[in-house]
Amino acid sequence: MARALALAAKGTGQVSPGPLVGCVITTKDGEVLGEGFYVYQDVKHAETLALEQAGGRARDATAYVTLEPHAHFGKTPPCTNNLIASGIKRLVAPIEDPNPKVSGRGFDHLRSAGLEVSSGLMAREAKKVNEKYSHFMTTGRPFVHLKLATSLDGKIATRTGDSRWITGGESRVRAQELRHECDLILIGAGTALADNPLLTDRAGKPRRRPLTRVVLDERLQTDPESQLVQTAKEAPVLIFTGESLETRKAEVLLSRGVEIVRDSFGGRDLLLVLEELGKRSFQSVLVEGGATVAGNLIDAGLVDKVTFFLAPVIIGGRDAPSAVGGHGAERLIDALGVVDVEIVQRGSDIEVTGYPPKARDRNEGGPV
Ligand SMILES: NC(=O)c1ccc[n+]([C@@H]2O[C@H](COP(=O)([O-])OP(=O)(O)OC[C@H]3O[C@@H](n4cnc5c(N)ncnc54)[C@H](OP(=O)(O)O)[C@@H]3O)[C@@H](O)[C@H]2O)c1
Repeated sequence: MARALALAAKGTGQVSPGPLVGCVITTKDGEVLGEGFYVYQDVKHAETLALEQAGGRARDATAYVTLEPHAHFGKTPPCTNNLIASGIKRLVAPIEDPNPKVSGRGFDHLRSAGLEVSSGLMAREAKKVNEKYSHFMTTGRPFVHLKLATSLDGKIATRTGDSRWITGGESRVRAQELRHECDLILIGAGTALADNPLLTDRAGKPRRRPLTRVVLDERLQTDPESQLVQTAKEAPVLIFTGESLETRKAEVLLSRGVEIVRDSFGGRDLLLVLEELGKRSFQSVLVEGGATVAGNLIDAGLVDKVTFFLAPVIIGGRDAPSAVGGHGAERLIDALGVVDVEIVQRGSDIEVTGYPPKARDRNEGGPV
């Protein structure tokens, strides 16, 4: 299963809005007969690829698949049919497909055909591999991963707004990997103006769809000469703005390839923003600041995962911005605890990743 999970991860950047799936077929003594992982463009599922390699030796073998095989006709015929036809005797899959429309049906189909089915093995790891897919399937909204780079004293820029670079090269290489894992990157107008960032995926690995860059900009302050706008024809840019926007500027932005989404809250209702992005089949978003957007997302309970890169530097200064704005906690007991924490050293920086307890699943809209 560990090998199947490693195979699944090879599809990173190439499967959204689908799941990452890996499959290994072995004899009962553990000899590997076939392997595969899912890539959206290739249409073939991980199980099918592994079964093709195993050929006739799949009879009586065991299939390790990282996610419940599907039993319905989607882009491809049901994988359960292929598994049954191959003569596989035993299926080991850690978790059910979180898609509520198909969950459990694959296991039922295989059991009713006489296969031995067991689940639960490395379930925690399997859930993590598909955390974005699961969230998207169950909420219809992209998984929100907040990433920030801070000094030891929690600042994201100096009092004059200088923010490049707080962290070292290894953290920045890692940050590119985080971009590669996501469909979208989101910032507020403040960061667009202060930093003039490019926000492209420079991980150097294949991706199915270009990383779409999103700016929350109610007053349409984004500069038409900015790097974002200048590159909009190669990597999409989506600006959420108000309904009464300055039309001439909007026309210039549109002519340069920017897509403008107008709504009555001008991108300030973050739940609405995420719902709109979900409708466009975006499975995940990496939020790269700044403090106001980060704080508002946290206040709204909409952050699913956080990664902070802490650099061994003290910026100081009362007027230097700290990482997270918004209202914040009133009492310490209300502070957002982060669980399932992982800490990794990146050069002389520290990367801290964790999960806020189940993000609030709000049902009603309204500005936040
Ligand atoms: N170290 C890091 O990791 C890092 C990362 C990013 C940025 N930064 C630094 O952070 C600073 C910028 O922070 P910031 O707080 O000014 O900018 P921000 O969070 O990027 O942008 C905030 C602005 O975005 C607009 N906006 C539209 N919809 C919004 C919504 N739903 N929630 C929040 N804002 C929304 C508002 O503009 P209006 O109110 O003007 O309409 C708001 O003032 C810069 O100095 C930048 O260098 C550091």
